[in-house]
Amino acid sequence: MPTVAIVSQKGGSGKTTLALHLATAGAYSGKKTIVVDTDPQATAAAWADWRGDFLPEVVTSPPARLARTVEKQLASGVELVVIDTPPHADASAREAIKTADLVLVPSRPRAFDLHALEATAEMLQFVGKDGNVLMNGVPARATRMLADAKAKVEALGLSVCPVMFGERAAFHRASGDGESATEFDPESKAADEVRELWKWVCKATGMKVGKKF
Ligand SMILES: Nc1ncnc2c1ncn2[C@@H]1O[C@H](COP(=O)(O)OP(=O)(O)O)[C@@H](O)[C@H]1O
Ligand SMILES: [Mg+2]
Repeated sequence: MPTVAIVSQKGGSGKTTLALHLATAGAYSGKKTIVVDTDPQATAAAWADWRGDFLPEVVTSPPARLARTVEKQLASGVELVVIDTPPHADASAREAIKTADLVLVPSRPRAFDLHALEATAEMLQFVGKDGNVLMNGVPARATRMLADAKAKVEALGLSVCPVMFGERAAFHRASGDGESATEFDPESKAADEVRELWKWVCKATGMKVGKKF
């Protein structure tokens, strides 16, 4: 019954996009999945309102209540908890990291975004957990940019997640419609990337991949 935290100190890095796509994948695979939205802006919760189908359900929690909220969800039979966090908020990120079995750190592979990883890396080191950086919004044919970004991530003592999300219209168009990319366009590259992410998260946490979606 894993808890996956999505953290990054940078706004716009793709935390909410990643949290909602991972949670939707979990729900479609047949797992009782919940998103805990700790962002005061409550974007993930708004997305769930647009959907209205509780697939996945999104609950909100202030950081001080996060551990208890997650505990209660797991005790009630939830099989996968995904925690979405706000940017520029140390307390939220720290609590999420402490509560998580797996930490995913989305980052665009560009200089200012990579610089912001330093704060997250320090926090992970302090708590004693590994962070997996998922390169998000990767432009096409960005081989050199990616190689540089990976080197920077490794120099910070973080791991590079083998799954990446390209810069794809399906991600933002789906989110704006209260959908995930796999619902919006199951044949899209974005949908393939989400399915790849699901497999990787299952392997990393020891979950069964479950139903195809
Ligand atoms: N891989 C991607 N391709 C295209 N648009 C993306 C991608 N990831 C995120 N976005 C868009 O970028 C914006 C910021 O993403 P969001 O998930 O809200 O970031 P955060 O939660 O870290 O602030 C949103 O409009 C989202 O739709
Ligand atoms: Mg967000």
